[in-house]
Amino acid sequence: MTSEKDVTIVEVGPRDGLQNEKALVPIEAKLEFLDRLGSSGLGVIEATAFVSPRAIPQLSDASEVLTRLTRRPGVRYPVLVPNLNGLERALAAGATEIAIFTAASEAFNQHNINTTIEGSFQRFAPVMERARALGLWVRGYVSCALGCPYAGEIPVARTVEVTRRLFAIGCTEVSLGDTIGVGVPRQVAELCSALVADGIDLGRIALHFHDTRGTALSNVSEGLRQGVRIFDSSAGGLGGCPYATGASGNLATEDLVYLLERSGLRTGVDLDKVFEASSFVLRALARPPVSRVAQTLSSGSRWPLPAAPAGRT
Ligand code: HMG
Ligand code: MG
Repeated sequence: MTSEKDVTIVEVGPRDGLQNEKALVPIEAKLEFLDRLGSSGLGVIEATAFVSPRAIPQLSDASEVLTRLTRRPGVRYPVLVPNLNGLERALAAGATEIAIFTAASEAFNQHNINTTIEGSFQRFAPVMERARALGLWVRGYVSCALGCPYAGEIPVARTVEVTRRLFAIGCTEVSLGDTIGVGVPRQVAELCSALVADGIDLGRIALHFHDTRGTALSNVSEGLRQGVRIFDSSAGGLGGCPYATGASGNLATEDLVYLLERSGLRTGVDLDKVFEASSFVLRALARPPVSRVAQTLSSGSRWPLPAAPAGRT
């Protein structure tokens, strides 16, 4: 049974994280990364994306990743699909959960998926028809929910409208992305209020922050205050979107787990194990973590302090 204290973390590192890395991670390392994440208590791990390999060569091994993935009991492994072609590829590799994606910005959609908002919904129609027939779980994404690298400010009403449409076509959950990390808590509060005023249940909303300007954790705190209980993050703070200049780094899972657990909320996630998983993949990428908590763990600093051995005072 879930309570107000339970928070779901959707780990997007293997997809959102790796899609924006210059280096290609070998498939064996991706599988090991996924397996380590799976052992950390995370309940949802976005495994890969069935998008055009020309657009995202980093994930061109999606079919092999999903086929060879060792699925841990109780862990869900959704994959991104942009169109029917992507869904068919995903199904052939054994997908049972998918995520479709559009944006609150026309300009961003043109760059990212080469179509308008309307065009994206036309592509979703056959995807959703097939998903419904097969009983697939579907997440929807709205990128640029708090600002766009091409169009600038995005009206709150536009984000709400796209969110409503995603629910109307059958999404179970909608993730609102601050793709380039420009949002601040005031915007999170305004957006949540507008969603509620529109009759949207915040229990079905996820917030997806990028930490480009250091506001991601403040935005999470505001989201929590508003009643949101699903947050996306990426182990080690990997990631971004290649079609959004400056979209450096998702909120790091380590930082999110630390904030939530120390605030008395329950994630079910073992911070040390996420750190081990991100350390592993960052070694494969030959780069240090951007996660502040991971940096302190790397330097040997711990908080809370380990319990003193019995008998010592
Ligand atoms: P398009 O060029 O308009 O599509 O691309 P098309 O239907 O005209 O097809 C063109 C070619 O791509 C054809 O091949 C198709 O077969 C192939 P050709 O005949 O030229 O050899 N193709 C595909 N191949 C594999 N898988 C497919 C697929 N579809 C077509 N599914 C398309 C449209 C959407 C496919 C393309 O623009 C694309 O793949 N874009 C990917 C963009 C992307 O992955 N961006 C990052 C994810 S979004 C994100 O990160 C934001 C998020 O994290 C939230 C946030 O932070 O805000 C979710
Ligand atoms: Mg993202």
